[in-house]
Amino acid sequence: TKDQYILGIETSCDETAASIVKNGTEIITNVVASQIESHKRFGGVVPEVASRHHVEQITLVIEEALKQANMTPQELDAVAVTEGPGLVGALLIGINAAKAFAFANDLPLVGVHHIAGHIYANALVQPMEFPLLALVVSGGHTELVLMKKDGQFELIGETRDDAAGEAYDKVARVLNLPYPGGPHIDRLANESDEAVSFPRAWLEEGSYDFSFSGLKSAVINYQHNAEQRGEEINPNHLAAGFQQSVIEVLTTKTVRAAREFNVKQVIAAGGVAANKGLRKSLEEAFEKENIPFYVPPINLCTDNAAMIAAAGSSKYSAGQTGDLSMNGRPGLEL
Ligand code: KG4
Ligand code: ZN
Repeated sequence: TKDQYILGIETSCDETAASIVKNGTEIITNVVASQIESHKRFGGVVPEVASRHHVEQITLVIEEALKQANMTPQELDAVAVTEGPGLVGALLIGINAAKAFAFANDLPLVGVHHIAGHIYANALVQPMEFPLLALVVSGGHTELVLMKKDGQFELIGETRDDAAGEAYDKVARVLNLPYPGGPHIDRLANESDEAVSFPRAWLEEGSYDFSFSGLKSAVINYQHNAEQRGEEINPNHLAAGFQQSVIEVLTTKTVRAAREFNVKQVIAAGGVAANKGLRKSLEEAFEKENIPFYVPPINLCTDNAAMIAAAGSSKYSAGQTGDLSMNGRPGLEL
């Protein structure tokens, strides 16, 4: 059979990315232009700034992906692009670039859900086996997704307030750490030999949902109280305490869901899956459970277009193509 080449495009947040993936599993090129430096001084992603950067970068990034692959558009089978969720202005730039490219080169267009992309990042590392449980933890999402088969998603749990990465970024701000704060908190926590005790949000018995705003408030109050008493807080102890609470809840609920749904494989995905403490905790827990657990390398955990091409490959193979009426869908459901 003929090999399949998909061009993936991702612009839902603060990375402008294009990638070419072969047969849904093999990365040919993976180009990412990060805007983090431009958002740092604002302490978070500013939608207008993101859109402007995407406009400046998108054509260059797509051209670079083709050039590095030494391929022409005629050698591609389809163009896959993130349709949502994300910042609407940011999404539209990727979508319009994808539409123009598909139209000009007479290629089919495939719309991809950003979270499906994060999950399919794993297909680039090893074959996915079903039923599969995915823990998706990023700046915008904290979700437990059950996949009984390829292309089918069941949301079994999600955050009721802040996403895990959002909580990391907010706590980092309390400690005056730069944006994005996740990697800094991770480092401080790993260097710490002690941890402040913070609450765990288990929610109702049996629930697979998450909540991180209470924990975030507990951290802010702790810092505030220390300040009022004129005491210095130890940032390492605070980071370690926060991180322990997040990791314990994420690990415990993921293990319980994996048992209940009798899955063959568990994967972690999204920017927070780059967290060293979380990776270790999940690895140890699933070794005990005797369930295969995988997490992609860090550059495939954070936003990229290879994951969009991989998810797009699955949809394209199933005949699920879109057309030029495709629109940015900020609240798109899985
Ligand atoms: O998936 P991603 O790149 O973008 C979204 O779709 O949101 O995730 C970004 C998030 C940020 O909140 C960042 O602080 C967090 O992932 N993050 C981490 C780590 N590396 C990135 N959080 C905890 N530990 C890390 N090592
Ligand atoms: Zn993401």
